[in-house]
Parts: sequence; C-alpha cells; structure tokens
Amino acid sequence: MISKLRKSAKNTPTHLTITQPDDWHVHVRDSEMLAAVVNFTARQFGRAIIMPNLAPPITSAQAAREYRTRILAAVDEKHDFTPLMTCYLTDNIDPKEIEAGFAQGVFTACKLYPAGATTNSDHGVTDIQNIYPVLETMQRIGMPLLIHGEVTDADIDIFDREAVFIERVMSKIIKDFPALKTVFEHITTKQAVDFVQESGANIAATITPHHLVYNRSAIFAGGINPHLYCLPIAKRELHRLALRKAATSGSSKFFLGTDSAPHSVEAKQSACGCAGVFNAPYALESYAATFDQENALDKLEGFASLHGPHFYGLEPNKCKIVLERTNIEIPKTLDIMDTQIIPFHGGEVLGWTFTGILS
Ligand code: DOR
Ligand code: ZN
Repeated sequence: MISKLRKSAKNTPTHLTITQPDDWHVHVRDSEMLAAVVNFTARQFGRAIIMPNLAPPITSAQAAREYRTRILAAVDEKHDFTPLMTCYLTDNIDPKEIEAGFAQGVFTACKLYPAGATTNSDHGVTDIQNIYPVLETMQRIGMPLLIHGEVTDADIDIFDREAVFIERVMSKIIKDFPALKTVFEHITTKQAVDFVQESGANIAATITPHHLVYNRSAIFAGGINPHLYCLPIAKRELHRLALRKAATSGSSKFFLGTDSAPHSVEAKQSACGCAGVFNAPYALESYAATFDQENALDKLEGFASLHGPHFYGLEPNKCKIVLERTNIEIPKTLDIMDTQIIPFHGGEVLGWTFTGILS
C-alpha cells in the first residue's frame, strides 16, 4: 500500500504509483449531462460519493437505486467504477426510509444542505432541529452525515458563512451527536481546518482541488471570472494556505473530494451565473501538482486513496494508478452536449499527467 516514487537523476520522482483514488464528493448530474461528464470521473477514480442535488432531489432509496442504474448505464464498460449513493435530507424525511436504504446497501451517506445554501438546495433543511430524529438514527446505525457547512442568513457576509456555520450549527451537531460520523464537505477556511483537527476521529473533511489552488482575489483578477465561482466561495490567502497544510499533512482526517460541478458555459457566463467548478477531467493532475509544490508527493496516496475508505469503513481499491511527471496542456474548453464546459485549469499547463490504471 506504500506509494512508489521512481526518482530521476536529480532525485525528484518521475513517476508516482499509488492505490487508485476515490472521489468522496462529486456532482455527475443526470440525462445528457450525466452521459457527457461521468466518464471523466470513472476514468480516474474507483468509487465516488454521488451528490443527490438533482431536481427533484434524491430523497428515497428507490430514487437512489434508479439514479445508480442510470449512472452505471452511462459509464463506459472499460471503467470499473462504483457510484456510492447519498440521500438528500429534507425537513420531513422519514428516518425509516434512511435506515432501510442504508441497510439495503443503497445509501452510503446522507447529505445535509441548509435550505438555500447552493444549487438545488431549496428542499434542504430549514432548521437542524427538524432532522434530529434522523441524526439520532444515523448515529445509531453508523451512517455518515455529509455537511454543506454554510449558514444562509442574508445578513451574514458570504465570506463568513462557513465560519459562522461552525459556531452556530456544526458545534451543536457534534455536541448533541458525539458519535455521529460527520464529513465537513469542501472546507474553505482555517476555522474549518482547526475545528476538524480539534474534533474526535468521527469528524473528517474533504478538500477540493480548486480551493487548494486559488484564493478569493483570483475570482476578480483582471475582471470577474465566473468559472472560479463556486460555493462555498474561495476565501483569503491565509485560508488557502491552511487547506494546503491540512491536505498535505498526512492527517487521516482530510481526504479527496473534488466537488466537480459542471454547468454549461452559458449557465456560468450569465447575469446570474451558477456556482460550480468542473474539475473532474484533470482532478488528479491538479492534486498532484499541488502536492508536488508542497514537497508532499509522499502524502498524496493517503489523502487521495486511503483516508477516505478508512473513514467510510471500506477497503482501499485494489488497483494502482500511475501519475507521470510530464506536462499536460489542459484544453480551454470541452465540447459537451451541444455546448461547452470550461474545465478547471483550462488553457494552463500542469506538470503531472495521469497515465492510467495498472491491472
Ligand atoms: O459550487 C457548487 N456547485 N457548490 C455546491 O454546493 C453545489 C454545486 C452544484 O451542484 O452546482
Ligand atoms: Zn458539492
């Protein structure tokens, strides 16, 4: 399970062979968009936690089963890929539905969207108190809770919403459900890093490639860049540095979750542009470049392939993948359906290339 680093004459690794990673947070959408995007994820990752924020959202085991079937039908047969399904929590969701879906192996986890926090979150939870019976059940059966950690109050500055969520909601959940397995999704602040580090082993966090790469100034550099707009929004540089330190620290509390969230170029470049960064096509290239810059390539396998399965109580993947120190040009746009999607890093060159899976 130890990653192999092949070294060049200068003692810098030229190849990295690691256990195949999983993506612990991804949006693959539905219908034509699903067919167009899912193989970018299935090409690199063995498994992925599939976000349930479709319209309408996935709120029953039957809906999750059907969505899983549609995902598998869209995956190219050359990929061995397992979608792990999640249930979208609403104010009225029945704990029995969740328990049954988990027992049947349909649901891996539940996703908490505070109502109004992000894309298709209107059916989300309006008050955490409303789902206390659900959290009780999840704690008892050992089912993970995945949290979009932002308050939605209009009077809270958008850049403070994660930190205020920790104070007002996260701390309360942890206090009232001390044994609940909880993933603080796509963290963006030093406060979240500190909170996760100071909490027990049942609290972990995912970190996206994009929050490791740019800070909030980049969204406005030289004009507004809608393709860097996502939620939670990127924060100040000090937060990005805290995320990079956490991801590359080797701590098993932090693991890979891309939050890849495709929207068409029209939906992004609009008077009211959608939130989301489409990073699935070159996700591992992006993470590898960041870990290399931090002189932490030896920590990539833990973050990408081992800490997530350990938290979820699953075995790591059996296969290995290879990343090679070779430049790769990221296309500026990808033709998808009848339109384009701008991939993360579009038009840039990254120094590591995913070359495939070793069987
Ligand atoms: O930027 C985001 N896009 N954040 C989310 O939480 C949802 C996602 C989406 O579904 O587009
Ligand atoms: Zn997401």
